[in-house]
Amino acid sequence: MEFSTKVSAPEALKTPCLVLPHFAGEGFDELAGHVNEASEGALARLVARDLEEKAGSLLALPCLPGTAAERVLVVSLGKRAEYSAKVLRTALVAAGKWFASAKADKASVPAESFVSPAVSLQAVVQSATQLFAEQTYRFAAPRAKKEEAKGVRRVEFLLSDKHDKDALQGLKQGDAIAQGVALARDLGNMAGNHCTPTHLAEVATAMGKRYDFKVEVLDQAGIAKLGMGAFLAVTQGSAEPARFIVMQYKGAKGKQAPVVLVGKGLTFDSGGISLKPGEGMDEMKYDMCGGASVLGAFKAIAEMKLPINVVGLIPSTENMPGGRATKPGDVVTSLSGQTIEILNTDAEGRLILCDVLTYAERFKPACVIDIATLTGACVIALGAHASGLLANDDDLAAELMAVGQETGDRCWQLPLWEEYQEQLKSNFADMGNIGGRPAGTITAACFLSRFAKAYKWAHLDIAGTAWKSGGEKGATGRPVTLLTQFLIQRARAK
Ligand code: BES
Ligand code: MN
Ligand code: ZN
Repeated sequence: MEFSTKVSAPEALKTPCLVLPHFAGEGFDELAGHVNEASEGALARLVARDLEEKAGSLLALPCLPGTAAERVLVVSLGKRAEYSAKVLRTALVAAGKWFASAKADKASVPAESFVSPAVSLQAVVQSATQLFAEQTYRFAAPRAKKEEAKGVRRVEFLLSDKHDKDALQGLKQGDAIAQGVALARDLGNMAGNHCTPTHLAEVATAMGKRYDFKVEVLDQAGIAKLGMGAFLAVTQGSAEPARFIVMQYKGAKGKQAPVVLVGKGLTFDSGGISLKPGEGMDEMKYDMCGGASVLGAFKAIAEMKLPINVVGLIPSTENMPGGRATKPGDVVTSLSGQTIEILNTDAEGRLILCDVLTYAERFKPACVIDIATLTGACVIALGAHASGLLANDDDLAAELMAVGQETGDRCWQLPLWEEYQEQLKSNFADMGNIGGRPAGTITAACFLSRFAKAYKWAHLDIAGTAWKSGGEKGATGRPVTLLTQFLIQRARAK
């Protein structure tokens, strides 16, 4: 989707679709007032008769008399007293859904009409840019016949000053995040035989070339040479070559400890010898969504040239059964030197992540955040609304929680108490790789915490948030928004 700004003069109303926000029980602001007058009060009468009060309700008027606009879409913002950034998002999502199937190819949105004391102009433009792009996203599936482009493809923000700094900043950030989200969704939705570790590495390399940041890719031999015994234990059953992707974005002026993002890039998780049941196994192509979210966040920060240093680390492999596959009971030595008894080969995410968490130490990070579709237990605990959050630093956890609330890409903290560590005890190695059924999300994080002692660390379990199942099956692009907004705030704080 393309975005631009335009001065909201009367000729700007000559548009395929004019969006007009409306607060329940109130009259119109200046712009909508003009449209109402031109329609000899028809707009007000139709709104009073047919628009529901609830925020996000829509009233599409295909031909309002006296208006230059070919269509008018009235969007309810609910009661003004209850208006907030969250209510705004609800309204924008509704409008964005309508855009996706509209006949109009362009829409004009008077951004200032959405502003209130609780919601700034920058927030309006950023949210609108991001949410309109997300709602009109379509995956270009490989089909014999290309699908035709449909719906609104261009949005023009009508402003009293089309060079308004806040609005342009919101547009830039919203557009960059939307591009990052779209990249993460595309990669997630791609078939497992197309989106291989090699493909993820190629995407990273191409992005590094385009935006001028450093990307290194290690192959199986390189991973072995480093001594990543846990990572190798996962890859050895698969014929598809593994990759370890290392990206270094340097946007800060002068020296600055980087934020390190670690993303699970499991391009297909069959469970390995501890094979998963067949039903719904296709969805395990999404097991690389953590890695995709790191690539998406890199796309976003590179697009907006964010002044901050960020390292992205993506261990990528399949998890397959095979003659050389790891067997339950096998013991391996991780890069940290700690040994692991692999009791269940389906708990493979923590195995590829633990070695990379050790690797992350060399960057002397300001903090490390790992993102992983790690446990089915997290889907049971939090469903699709919040990503699981566990951390060894409460300030870092609070920072992520706050950004989640603000953006709507929410996460929720679970405890990482010492008492849970006991569940990982093994008679045959320093630890087992599973902690039994109780508190599965927590014991998975406990496992990772043993490799993340050298720095401030947070873990995001995105098993329930990274994709949707059922009729609307598809990647969500979460938590690219959360990660990028976190980095924007860190960059601002410096
Ligand atoms: N990738 C899965 C987690 C997963 C399962 C995410 C279902 C989304 C939906 C992970 O590798 C896994 O298999 N975890 C096991 C761990 C268990 C063996 C301790 C799980 O959650 O069942
Ligand atoms: Mn698994
Ligand atoms: Zn997995």
